[in-house]
Amino acid sequence: MAEYIILRNRDFPDIHKLDVYRENGGYEGLAAALKKKPEEVTAIVKDSGLQGRGGAAFPTGVKWGFIPKDVFPRYVVANADESEPGTFKDREIIEKNPHQLIEGIAIACYAVQANTAYIYCRGEFKYPARILEEAIQQARKAGYLGKNVMGSDFSLEIYTHLGAGAYICGEETALLESLEGKLGQPRQRPPFPAVAGLYGKPTVINNVETLANIPPILIRGAEWYRTIGTEKSPGPKIFCLSGHVNRPGNYELPLGTSLRELIYEHGGGVREDRQIKAILPAGASAPLLTAEHLDVALDYESVVAAGSMLGSASIIVMDETTDMVWLTLKTSRFFRHESCGKCTPCREGTYWLVNILERIEHGQGTREDIALLERVANQIALSRPFCLLGDFATTVVLSGLKYFREEYENHIGEKLALSFPAHPQPLVESGRTAIPPSRDLPR
Ligand SMILES: Cc1cc2nc3c(=O)[nH]c(=O)nc-3n(C[C@H](O)[C@H](O)[C@H](O)COP(=O)(O)O)c2cc1C
Ligand code: SF4
Repeated sequence: MAEYIILRNRDFPDIHKLDVYRENGGYEGLAAALKKKPEEVTAIVKDSGLQGRGGAAFPTGVKWGFIPKDVFPRYVVANADESEPGTFKDREIIEKNPHQLIEGIAIACYAVQANTAYIYCRGEFKYPARILEEAIQQARKAGYLGKNVMGSDFSLEIYTHLGAGAYICGEETALLESLEGKLGQPRQRPPFPAVAGLYGKPTVINNVETLANIPPILIRGAEWYRTIGTEKSPGPKIFCLSGHVNRPGNYELPLGTSLRELIYEHGGGVREDRQIKAILPAGASAPLLTAEHLDVALDYESVVAAGSMLGSASIIVMDETTDMVWLTLKTSRFFRHESCGKCTPCREGTYWLVNILERIEHGQGTREDIALLERVANQIALSRPFCLLGDFATTVVLSGLKYFREEYENHIGEKLALSFPAHPQPLVESGRTAIPPSRDLPR
């Protein structure tokens, strides 16, 4: 990428400082927005084709347009929950380029005429939240926030709010519950937050990266934005690359960049030149891809066509040494732990997925367990869990079985060869690395 649009801290390391941000075009997007009518700002964002970067890829300008007329107050909430395994892009924006997020929020608030905004940070983001607090104070002092923003008749206050460390609070309606001080569990939809969100009032919820796209769109225009990325997925995207690659990290690239380019050109290839076995393109929440998918373009449509989802673009690469049963158990444990317990398919289903996988992983599984695993995962999906977390919990299980079924079967064979333990052994977490512990060692 010739120039960074979101991670501008890579070009200007001190851009977290207000004066450096201002010297490099900072708050010019807000100034441009304030000269237009709010609905014109929404129209520009709509024309840009920007899609939400929080996972669902919903068109941002369209979402802003859903705010009903004549209902006040309205709110804007920046989703900084960033809890998807392997996602670490919002953190870099907040810590290194916080004013671009604040400016994006201010423009969004002006477009929907909201005078209050919240930034909901995941519970572990204590340091990023402090950086935001400082930047908000600086912006307020300089007249970009507070009463009569930049001399206009528009006023705005932004507050940060720390969650308590629950993955489900990244889901927008659970987030709103949590922000209201209630138990973080999803709400029934409709009504959607645009109609009845925070405190029952119209609310726009956008991801941090989505909002950081707004100032450059206002400064350089929708047409310019559409020159980046693909026709259906315009703009730049931050890809969070991790796993068995030589250079993990955040890579800001045009949407539509191929997986191969991301992994081999930017990520420096796979460690020790090993073969790729599987790729998680959206953290723990979307079906696996394999080495056959390396030429898939990383845009929202192409990844769906390949049988998965781009989501928040947290791309975890696994080499040939990865044990897929271990991976499936790891992700299933995550969802069992994070299930909020509100609905039966997810609460009970994730428990049973882990139960069966532990049996297979710890030498107590039978071939019937593989069919049972598949049935439980399908049943969770068919029972229509209350929110998407329930569906997410099934994706690695089902795609693991689709691409690597033989490995599950062999796994059972190998484990049986080690003979059943006389008494069930304590179940030990395999640790944080993707390399399973040696199967020859007693656990
Ligand atoms: C279980 C679950 C977890 C989610 N976690 C996040 C998150 O951490 N951050 C985020 O921005 N969106 C998350 N989302 C998506 C939000 O519900 C929502 O779609 C998003 O914040 C909207 O912003 P956008 O339109 O800018 O993408 C999650 C959704 C689900 C179902
Ligand atoms: S699907 Fe899971 S996380 Fe979502 S409401 Fe049901 S129990 Fe809670």
